[in-house]
Amino acid sequence: MREGAAHNVRKHAIMRPRVLVTRRIPEAGLALLREAVEVELHDSSAAIPRDVLLAAVRGKDGILALLTDRMDAEVFDAAPGLKVVANMAVGYDNVDLEEAARRGVRVTNTPDVLTDATADLAFALLLAVSRRLMEGHDMMRASAFPGWDPLMLLGHAVAGRTLGIVGMGRIGRAVAERATGFRMDVLYLRRGTPPQGLGSERWHPVDTLDELLAFSDFVTLHAPLTPQTRHLIGAARLARMKPTAYLVNTSRGPLVDEAALAAALRDHVIAGAALDVFEREPEVHPDLLTCGNCLMMPHIGSATVEARDAMATTAALNLLAVLRGEIPPNPVSRKPSG
Ligand code: DGY
Repeated sequence: MREGAAHNVRKHAIMRPRVLVTRRIPEAGLALLREAVEVELHDSSAAIPRDVLLAAVRGKDGILALLTDRMDAEVFDAAPGLKVVANMAVGYDNVDLEEAARRGVRVTNTPDVLTDATADLAFALLLAVSRRLMEGHDMMRASAFPGWDPLMLLGHAVAGRTLGIVGMGRIGRAVAERATGFRMDVLYLRRGTPPQGLGSERWHPVDTLDELLAFSDFVTLHAPLTPQTRHLIGAARLARMKPTAYLVNTSRGPLVDEAALAAALRDHVIAGAALDVFEREPEVHPDLLTCGNCLMMPHIGSATVEARDAMATTAALNLLAVLRGEIPPNPVSRKPSG
């Protein structure tokens, strides 16, 4: 290569924007980034430690962040040239939007691509907890099946029952559509234009959360975490639910007061709960661990190969669009949406 050309290649490499990817993500997203920018990958399957993050963001133009990374004033101060935080999640309660806006940092998320995966998991949890699949599985694994028994592991019916959906955004509506095949009536909170979707003739608006809780056989949460939704479901609200009802949460853990939920499960205020998310992940309230009527999963709502590939790709495309000076496909507004 001629010296001039080599110089140009070097200069081009030097001038490429610099991007931090805070954890190992699917290769599809990384490959897109590597074509266009200099990528520094925190090459680990564990969340990046805070001190490592603060050092790594220095001099970066963009960060591809995960929901386990707190993106706040301290991070933005450490990266004065930062232009974009592309969150690889639909939720973005880990990002301080005020501080980002104050510094002109764009924030993006990955909606749509994980809707089906998360709705599938919510419905799987609903079925599993009401039909006591985890107890049956544990019995089989322990070689403790005593033979067919007409009174063994009785759960509650799903078909034809009433499903209360808190948060009729994309994922809430996708769960409502899944309920159609089970001939369920769906209750949701009345807000503006009625939501539409497969089977929406069985979707009924109610005016208050208390009403939704009182009439539902299953309550599933699909609201974003905001100051208004923190501990949305506490002792008083659990007491409004039927003693035969189940609570499912695949949104964000802090929507539920875990101590109150554990007490309600222990005292049979409700029949059971199925949780994919927790108040202080990865910790779980110790009292929940002792509740046989609580099914727990390690935050795997979007954990399909297809959804995670699409999330990584979407986050990368958002990030690259901002660095090219374009409007990204999924900009985040101040008001979170599910
Ligand atoms: C999200 O995207 O917000 C989920 O919690 C992780 O898939």
